[in-house]
Amino acid sequence: MSVIASSSLPTHHTGVAGTTLHPVPLLPHSAEHGELRNGLLASRAHTSPKYFYDAMGSVLFEAICVLPEYYPTRTEAAIFSTHLPQMAEVIGTGGTIIDLGAGNCAKAARLFPLLHPHQYVPIDISADHLNDAVGRLQQRFPHIEMTALSLDLAQDWQLPPEVRHERRLFFYPGSSIGNFEPAQALDFLRHLRLCCGSDGGILIGVDLIKDAQILATAYDDHLGVTAAFNLNLLRHINRLLGSDFTLGQWRHRAFFNTGQSRIEMHLEARQDLQVRWTGGGRDFRQGESIHTENSYKYSIPDFTALLEQAGFTAAHHWTDSNEWFAVIYAQTT
Ligand code: AVI
Repeated sequence: MSVIASSSLPTHHTGVAGTTLHPVPLLPHSAEHGELRNGLLASRAHTSPKYFYDAMGSVLFEAICVLPEYYPTRTEAAIFSTHLPQMAEVIGTGGTIIDLGAGNCAKAARLFPLLHPHQYVPIDISADHLNDAVGRLQQRFPHIEMTALSLDLAQDWQLPPEVRHERRLFFYPGSSIGNFEPAQALDFLRHLRLCCGSDGGILIGVDLIKDAQILATAYDDHLGVTAAFNLNLLRHINRLLGSDFTLGQWRHRAFFNTGQSRIEMHLEARQDLQVRWTGGGRDFRQGESIHTENSYKYSIPDFTALLEQAGFTAAHHWTDSNEWFAVIYAQTT
């Protein structure tokens, strides 16, 4: 097993969720400090979803994944449980599995007994996370070469030479592709297509368009875990910017924007208020909001078309009986 740190890699890309970022304040002149400030100062204030995932945010996201209202995680897991043998028939065995946003590597590990990869390349922003998870996995699957990469998919990135050119399968479960703007999703898929070479593929989890109320409830659960996840962003920003957001002055809002086919999450000011941070600040009027996340929902034909635009062909998909979620495989030729 080897772990390669991101500092040795050139970088590329746009907002992906699922990772722990920035335990310490940002330097006032850093690009990210500027990005956060500019977002907060925009006429419609907004922040990148990557700022959800400090240590507390990551724990809250794990809790979201087991909420009864949040169907994507368990629905995707059920699709894999039911259809993995057919997936293996279509995908074939051997090659390299590249796991995007691997976390504890549990989802990919379920593929190994059927896909028999020669190499496994988990990618995560947190090297500590990967070290532990891959160390344990290597003991269970000693014959698979494991090369862990610590890199930020939200920046420019390339695969290092240690990743074999033998058939590359990108594995991107969890519907995190929905947190990209559609144009960024296309850029991201194009980048994967280029990294695949001529006989690779992608196995990706996609959340599908469904009843607006089911969608809205999945992002505004009765226990208030998603509200806590959204509000925790302000605590994280307070640490990063040295700002003085008061959580009690804000409320969580989530709704399905049918025209844009996306869940929107916002934090709405409960009253007129002021926020200050090192070198600046902003006044918010009651009802004004910070747009904190989009989670796009696709139809299977629309997502297949996106994959084709990115240069992938022959999409296969597997879904649950409600058709709430799809796992899609597409390949390069
Ligand atoms: C990580 N991502 C796929 C989640 C989603 O459903 O868009 C993030 C999330 N936000 C609120 N709940 C879950």
